[in-house]
Amino acid sequence: MKDKLEQIRASVERALHDADAMDALENIRIKYMGKKGELTAVLKGMGKLSPEERPKIGALANEIRNRLEKEIDDRKTAIMTALEEKKLKDEMIDVTMPGRKNAEGKLHPLTQVKNELAEIFMGMGFSIADGPEVEYDYYNFEALNIPKNHPARDEQDTFYIADNIVLRTQTSGMQVRVMEKTKPPIRVIAPGKVYRSDTQDATHSPVFHQIEGLVVDKNITMADLKGTLEMFVKKLYGEQTRVRFRPHHFPFTEPSAEMDYSCFNCGGKGCSVCKGEGWIEILGCGMVHPKVLANCGIDPEEYTGFAFGIGLERIAMGKYSINDLRLFFENDMRFLKQF
Ligand code: DAH
Repeated sequence: MKDKLEQIRASVERALHDADAMDALENIRIKYMGKKGELTAVLKGMGKLSPEERPKIGALANEIRNRLEKEIDDRKTAIMTALEEKKLKDEMIDVTMPGRKNAEGKLHPLTQVKNELAEIFMGMGFSIADGPEVEYDYYNFEALNIPKNHPARDEQDTFYIADNIVLRTQTSGMQVRVMEKTKPPIRVIAPGKVYRSDTQDATHSPVFHQIEGLVVDKNITMADLKGTLEMFVKKLYGEQTRVRFRPHHFPFTEPSAEMDYSCFNCGGKGCSVCKGEGWIEILGCGMVHPKVLANCGIDPEEYTGFAFGIGLERIAMGKYSINDLRLFFENDMRFLKQF
């Protein structure tokens, strides 16, 4: 019995020496101290021993069991500690490491210019209207006093979706949509994309942006138009800026004009930016045609109004000295990052 125990002790020592993981230790515990374990079997057989032998063998068996239990405990603790340390080390965050920078997005230059213009007009009491880019012929042309076969239709090469549906060629249709829904006084701008089937080059694009403006009330005159638009340009390019109006023709305004402003670069002396003119064209405008008011259910005897249309790309090109319109739409990061 004693030999048997010594044998068990030796094999336990060896097994413990080789065990390096929790499940190996658990297997050792079961092998020796489990219900059917080798040491358990010896302890169970103690009854058969003589009274003299029993205390000696009992003491030895207990010693081996204690040794085994303690060793397994110690080893378990050691393994747990090592695992925990490894985990902590693996998960350690070095707070002194430089952070990874998120690339910062920016607003597209055209959006920046649109926002700047919208700010100016909102400061003058205008609100902002939004409408569809796929538009009825009625709003884009018909109601604006541009009937079928009108020569003005040729000036705006139109993308047709269906017989009576187009991609809007101008934001002017928003005048009609606003007037149909709103009773005067009206003071509104409508920024947005417009489409024309132009071949693209440095100054033409099949899609570009306009801001439409509309003011309707009692006693609105050409003086209101001039005052408002002059104030707008001074806010955009500075107090020193001068404006001039040239007579023009638009079917939906009468009288109509184009407005130029004194070149922001040379102040009017003539330079490469204004091509020696001293003036740069910025918008089309006019007094809302009585027929257009009437088309929208507003009595032209009672109310008058003025309207204007601004091309956003032209303003952005001037502002940032950009000479090719296509740059706005190619979305090359090297270009966009500069704004
Ligand atoms: N819709 C015109 C265009 O695309 C611009 C314009 C001119 C708008 C005169 C207006 C206006 O509201 O009164 O060329």
